[in-house]
Amino acid sequence: MAEVSLRGVRKSFGPVDVIKGIDLDVAHGEFCVFVGPSGCGKSTLLRLIAGLEDITEGTLDIGGANMTRVPPANRGIAMVFQSYALYPHMTVRDNISFGLRMVDTPKPVITARVAEAARLLQLETYLDRKPSQLSGGQRQRVAIGRAIVREPEVFLFDEPLSNLDAALRSQTRVELLNLHQTLGATMIYVTHDQVEAMTMADKIVVLQAGQIEQVGSPLELYERPRNLFVAGFIGSPRMNTIPGRIATVIDGAARLELPGGAITHVQLNGTRLAPGPVLLGVRPEHIMVDDPGTSGEGLAGTVTLAEHLGAETILHIEMAHGPVLVARADGRAPQRIGQPVTLTLDPRFCHLFDPAGPALMNAPG
Ligand SMILES: Nc1ncnc2c1ncn2[C@@H]1O[C@H](COP(=O)(O)OP(=O)(O)OP(=O)(O)O)[C@@H](O)[C@H]1O
Ligand SMILES: [Mg+2]
Repeated sequence: MAEVSLRGVRKSFGPVDVIKGIDLDVAHGEFCVFVGPSGCGKSTLLRLIAGLEDITEGTLDIGGANMTRVPPANRGIAMVFQSYALYPHMTVRDNISFGLRMVDTPKPVITARVAEAARLLQLETYLDRKPSQLSGGQRQRVAIGRAIVREPEVFLFDEPLSNLDAALRSQTRVELLNLHQTLGATMIYVTHDQVEAMTMADKIVVLQAGQIEQVGSPLELYERPRNLFVAGFIGSPRMNTIPGRIATVIDGAARLELPGGAITHVQLNGTRLAPGPVLLGVRPEHIMVDDPGTSGEGLAGTVTLAEHLGAETILHIEMAHGPVLVARADGRAPQRIGQPVTLTLDPRFCHLFDPAGPALMNAPG
């Protein structure tokens, strides 16, 4: 069993605190994804788990054993980097087997493991080529193969697909997911990519400035963000936020005043809130866009941009008084730039946030 547990983990580079107290449990066989803005500490945290950096404070356990001060080679982990870091003068076969040869693994074992990795990664026909004779996706598969043959209990990936073009990226993403199912190993994966995070993760860890903002399944984070940061970070296009004010609360519903005096009602679902300023959060797919005058409690706006993606159209709509909102509409949405529209926010999917950040109420859905 190879669960990974961090307790009070901190990392400082000289006077600079980069990781500021991380408590995290990754279960055996789990696919855990780290996301967060550039510089928030994702790679550093991965390197602490790998043992490539010393943990300043706190403890790391892998498979129930304390690994805080154990050298990287004895942690049962393998790491795959964004830059494949292959040896250019070696064949694919020799690149994959390099780590095993370094520790004098018996030849038949090496041969068998390389064959198995090449089969899993569909590299059999490339084993005698040099890295320069491979595509980017094939090179990354070699780097993954080099990790697989070591039979680690835990795989660490730092943005392994970032150098690939879009088509190869989604293909390799699926291959990695299949690999995870086949091997059943614990995997910790850093990415900037929303789609990778949402589709690959059992568990997403959202980091900001060296701290965890929220941990949960992709849908938990999408539907129940704990604060404005997570609400804005998970989901693309991002959640809209509209400044407003709770005027009154009657019968469990808040009467919300929005910019320009528009009024909307939000069911509070038992949450007790007092009158005062709030931010109303609503995702693009929960804004209905109609011609003016077709709905009662609508917000007036004008289309300023229409992004036609085929299956859907992303409409940018400037409210008559207030921010630009982004709505996800049908691929054949008829609205054109400059057209006045009326927006209706689906009351089942409205979140309320304290302007300082914490969620006051997540949408009941
Ligand atoms: N060896 C080092 N010495 C000093 N500061 C460092 C060192 N390594 C990283 N840092 C700092 O630690 C912070 C976190 O870096 P890290 O590489 O972990 O970020 P990241 O989340 O992986 O970012 P990105 O998404 O850009 O890869 C950054 O501010 C970085 O400058
Ligand atoms: Mg990084």
